[in-house]
Amino acid sequence: QQHFSVKPLFKGKTFVITAGPTKEKIDPVRYFTNRSSGKMGYALAEQAAQMGAEVILVSGTDSLPPPKGVQIVPVESAEDMFHSVMKYASSADVIIKSAAVADYRPKQTFDSKMKKQPGNLIIEMERTKDILFELGQIKKHQFLVGFAAETNDMETYAKDKLVRKNADMIVGNNVSEKGAGFAGDTNIVTIFHKDFSTVSLPLMSKQETAKRILLEISKKWGDDHH
Ligand code: CTP
Ligand code: CA
Repeated sequence: QQHFSVKPLFKGKTFVITAGPTKEKIDPVRYFTNRSSGKMGYALAEQAAQMGAEVILVSGTDSLPPPKGVQIVPVESAEDMFHSVMKYASSADVIIKSAAVADYRPKQTFDSKMKKQPGNLIIEMERTKDILFELGQIKKHQFLVGFAAETNDMETYAKDKLVRKNADMIVGNNVSEKGAGFAGDTNIVTIFHKDFSTVSLPLMSKQETAKRILLEISKKWGDDHH
C-alpha cells in the first residue's frame, strides 16, 4: 500500500491580508467609518491558512471570530493600518488589501468630547494615505492584490486601479448588485489580472469566492514570482 501526501498549495508562504472598515476619530466618543463587514477578508485569511499559508490578518473589525491559525493585528484608523501593513510587508509573499480604507479623516481631532453649539457643524476632512498605492511603489517579489468596490463602470475603474496602483490583481466588486458587496455572506466578483485577462465568478459564498481568488493567485504568481 502506498501513501501519497499532497503539499498544501501555500506551504512556506506568508500572506498579509487586511479586512474590515477603518475608524477615523473625531473625538473620544465619535468616529467616521463605513459599511464593510470584514467578511471577505476574513474568508480569504481562513482559506489561505487552510491552504498552508502563514497568515497575518490586519483587521479593522473586532466583530468577527478570528479564523483558526491566523495571527490578528487589530487596527483602527487608516494611518494605523498603513503602519501595521508596512511593518509586515517585507516578509510577505502575498499582500491582499480587502479592507475598506477611509479615503478621508477629520483634519482636526479633539481630546475631549465636542459639545454641541447652536447652528451647523462643519468638519473639514483631509485625505488618508493610499496603502495599496504605497505598497505598489515599494514592492519587490510580493504579489499584490487589491479590491475595487464600485457601483458602476466596474471594468474601467478596476483596470485603472490595477495600473495606477501597480497591483498584480484587482478583485472587482459591484456593491450595488444583489448578493454582492459589504454586508452579506455571498459575493459576485470579477478578477482582473495584470495581463488584463479577466475571470468573472458567479454568485457564491464568500468562503468559496475566497478559494477561487487564492487559486487565481497561485496560477499567476508563477509568471514572475516564485
Ligand atoms: N485602498 C488603500 N488605502 C486607501 C484607499 C484604498 O489601500 N486609503 C485600497 C483598498 O484596500 C482596495 C483598493 O485600494 O484594495 C481600492 O479601494 P477603492 O476604495 O475601491 O478605491 P480608491 O482608490 O480609494 O478610489 P475610489 O474610492 O475613489 O473609487
Ligand atoms: Ca476609496
